[in-house]
Amino acid sequence: MSVRDAFEARTLIITIDGPAGTGKSSVAHRLAKALGLEFLDTGAMYRAASVLAMEEGIDPADGGRLAQRLRERRIAFDWRADPPRILLDRTDVSRKIRLLAVSEIVSIVAACPEVRAVLIEAQRRLGAEHPRLVSEGRDQGSVVFPDADVRFFLTASPQVRALRRLEQLRGQGMDATLEAIEQDIRRRDALDSTRAVGPLVCPVGATVIDSTGLTMDEVVARMVAVVQRVGTSIEVAPEPVA
Ligand code: DC
Repeated sequence: MSVRDAFEARTLIITIDGPAGTGKSSVAHRLAKALGLEFLDTGAMYRAASVLAMEEGIDPADGGRLAQRLRERRIAFDWRADPPRILLDRTDVSRKIRLLAVSEIVSIVAACPEVRAVLIEAQRRLGAEHPRLVSEGRDQGSVVFPDADVRFFLTASPQVRALRRLEQLRGQGMDATLEAIEQDIRRRDALDSTRAVGPLVCPVGATVIDSTGLTMDEVVARMVAVVQRVGTSIEVAPEPVA
């Protein structure tokens, strides 16, 4: 068996944790492409749970009821698309989950322990079904896949994260000041790292990458180098990163 075949045959779970605004999702998608792995966006699952709450008129803070409906309905991915499309039952909700109305309630939904329990279980199941995976989300290396082959913690300065968020908002036709966004990021970081359920922590043994001052390609290149160091038999797909 060639080195390449060995790489393709083995299971490989890579996790990327970190706060919002660090470019986790784009980095995870590119890293998955560079290594020929699949990509799991767990934030999309919390967003789909929020869509379900909106559709059924469930209070986003009513974690018990929402978790029960999540068990009855099904959040799944269509892995044939790249990035995979997210389905609620059989309906593609990939566009809906990005609506502002969803963004406004998703942090309430994600703070419900009952909802987290259902989605963590679903994520572990997906990891078992798709064992060659880059999984991105704030608790993937710390809680969901603590035995992942490689764990990353992606950070960036509050200023850089605020700037990225401002560009994103302007792209959506909304306005805000950099100062207000940065203040909000600092406030949320403090809340996030001290909250009782699923606080944001750096996973044990994670490689910390500070993306302040780095391009997305540079972040991905550093990650590829770490993955190659960890698994010396791992080869990287020859295609350039898109
Ligand atoms: O990355 P995102 O903006 O799509 O995440 C949506 C929300 O879900 C955000 O409030 C963080 C939260 N989240 C979480 O609590 N745990 C995860 N594994 C992924 C996202």
